[in-house]
Amino acid sequence: MRYAQITGWGRYVPSKVMTNLDLEKLVNTSDEWIRTRTGIAERRIGTPRDTTSSMALRAAQAALQVADLPPSKVDLVIVATLSPDYPMPATASLVQDALGASRAGAFDLNAGCSGFVYALSVGASMITGGLYQTVLVIGSDTVSRFVDWTDRGTCVLFGDGAGAVVLQESALPTGLRSCILGSDGSGAESLIIPAGGARSPATVDTVEARQHFIKMGGNEVFRFAVSAMCRASLQVIKQAGLEPDEIDLIIPHQANVRIIQAAAKSLGLPMEKFFVNVDRYGNTSAASIPIALCEAIEQGRVKPGDKLLFVGFGAGLTWAASVFEWGVGAELRPAPWWKSIVNTVIEREAGVRSFALRTGRRLDAVWRRNGFGGDNGYADGQNGSKHLR
Ligand SMILES: CC(C)(COP(=O)(O)OP(=O)(O)OC[C@H]1O[C@@H](n2cnc3c(N)ncnc32)[C@H](O)[C@@H]1OP(=O)(O)O)[C@@H](O)C(=O)NCCC(=O)NCCS
Repeated sequence: MRYAQITGWGRYVPSKVMTNLDLEKLVNTSDEWIRTRTGIAERRIGTPRDTTSSMALRAAQAALQVADLPPSKVDLVIVATLSPDYPMPATASLVQDALGASRAGAFDLNAGCSGFVYALSVGASMITGGLYQTVLVIGSDTVSRFVDWTDRGTCVLFGDGAGAVVLQESALPTGLRSCILGSDGSGAESLIIPAGGARSPATVDTVEARQHFIKMGGNEVFRFAVSAMCRASLQVIKQAGLEPDEIDLIIPHQANVRIIQAAAKSLGLPMEKFFVNVDRYGNTSAASIPIALCEAIEQGRVKPGDKLLFVGFGAGLTWAASVFEWGVGAELRPAPWWKSIVNTVIEREAGVRSFALRTGRRLDAVWRRNGFGGDNGYADGQNGSKHLR
């Protein structure tokens, strides 16, 4: 029997802090309103240099360091995000390249703020199913780029960041014990960026109508979130053969402390069982659960044998929950002095490799344009049609 265990974890948040007082200068709101209605005191906002892929890369590098693995050992990179760098290519491919994960496949997964729990279950299944040995699962979002900074109903809620875990094959009977993925697309319009996709491509009109920003029915999403969290948690705990009080730590999606409190009450569990850091980061979408997991580990709240419950909800509408049995020692071993040199070399090597591949591709194109090169079906400008004939 194969199991998939988390052996590395890492997070990255931008250095720029935006407090509620900063928001008071932008929209008609107050620190008191934001704190009492959401529990949020501040959030991190990406600088122009921070992108979804750059934050994902930093979190992934940290996770690989904890797992003590070189990027060349990674078989697959999954990036859960609703704010990819580009509509195409996938952000995961940018991360795979910058990381130097030369053997890895890569794809993005969009399940809104439930994305990380979705991606964790996909990655773990790839390992337990025997396809792969090492999967990097990342949640990264730069939601601030899609927030309407004139809409006080949404702009106070979100922040940017990334979190990552390394999943590795293990013989120890731990890891993912149960999992539930859910969707109700009839609620798509309650949390949506209406334009910029294939249905409504960007035009002057869509930009003027502010259709490229998040639109949200706050009350509707609140009610959905509480009920989805409770239903999914109870289902997944039962599926794992456990009772709610046997869960050691619940790491919920960090959207609003009132949602977490309402879910705790409805589940009959004390707030101490829930990890909360929404006060410092706001809602970082797919990054919120892995960032919270990293902080829970740093605070000594995760021990081998612990049963963790991850539960998320978000745009789609979607929800996802999983019970995960922790299997490795979570204490951070101090890295030997030479490790940072090795890591710098690996990072540089990834950059050089990427540059060499790009340059090679350009030289190859020039070479062929000038009539050199073998017959690979492209030489006559037929776009490979020779292979099809
Ligand atoms: C958005 C949310 C915080 C609003 O809280 P609420 O208690 O439901 O507040 P309401 O929407 O009922 O608004 C109450 C009043 O506050 C006002 N208000 C809204 N945002 C405000 C802000 N930032 N500052 C001050 N007042 C605000 C509203 O305009 C409304 O005023 P009105 O009564 O004069 O019309 C809450 O609905 C929520 O958290 N929903 C879930 C959002 C979420 O988690 N989304 C992501 C899911 S992944």
